[in-house]
Amino acid sequence: MKLAVIYDSKTGNTKQAAEWIIKGMNGVADVEAKAFSIHEVDQEFVKEVKGIVIGSPSYAALMTPDLHAWLLPAVDKLGMAGKLGGAFSTEQYTQGCGDLVIQSILARMLAGGMVCYSGGAGCGLPYLHLGPVGVNSNMEKHNAMEHYKDNFIVYGKRFAEKAIELFR
Ligand SMILES: Cc1cc2nc3c(=O)[nH]c(=O)nc-3n(C[C@H](O)[C@H](O)[C@H](O)COP(=O)(O)O)c2cc1C
Repeated sequence: MKLAVIYDSKTGNTKQAAEWIIKGMNGVADVEAKAFSIHEVDQEFVKEVKGIVIGSPSYAALMTPDLHAWLLPAVDKLGMAGKLGGAFSTEQYTQGCGDLVIQSILARMLAGGMVCYSGGAGCGLPYLHLGPVGVNSNMEKHNAMEHYKDNFIVYGKRFAEKAIELFR
């Protein structure tokens, strides 16, 4: 089963998170998952997938303007209706509104007729709620994304297992 992760990323954090999600997805039997920047989407691959996860940095509590411009028509253009959808984000601070970014991506997916899945608290620890958020700085002097690596990998695994359960 094919799955896609699509992201916008200017300084690499969201791209890194996407690669960790892919790692979790590809650890599930019979899954072929690929990650794409919004600037390099393989449209033929994405049309064949059963599930799509979309990620963005928090920009003043919103998804990036580039992702918004891409996502608005892409849901219809790439035939996402009926597919499994999920979302993730990265942010600089704990209160940086990554959850709001996830929520707005999921809202666009739902509006387009996608079936959304969070891999949330019902799956136990780690509690992901709406989806995984990576925090790159807080009070730390180095990039702290690595602390969130396992959450993204677990999220990818949960998403892929749900896609297999629903669509195989
Ligand atoms: C224009 C702009 C606005 C931002 N706004 C927020 C914000 O509201 N909250 C936050 O926590 N981080 C904010 N950030 C930081 C980014 O969300 C964070 O560094 C993110 O991980 C960057 O992702 P990327 O490396 O994939 O580009 C902002 C960064 C930029 C450039």
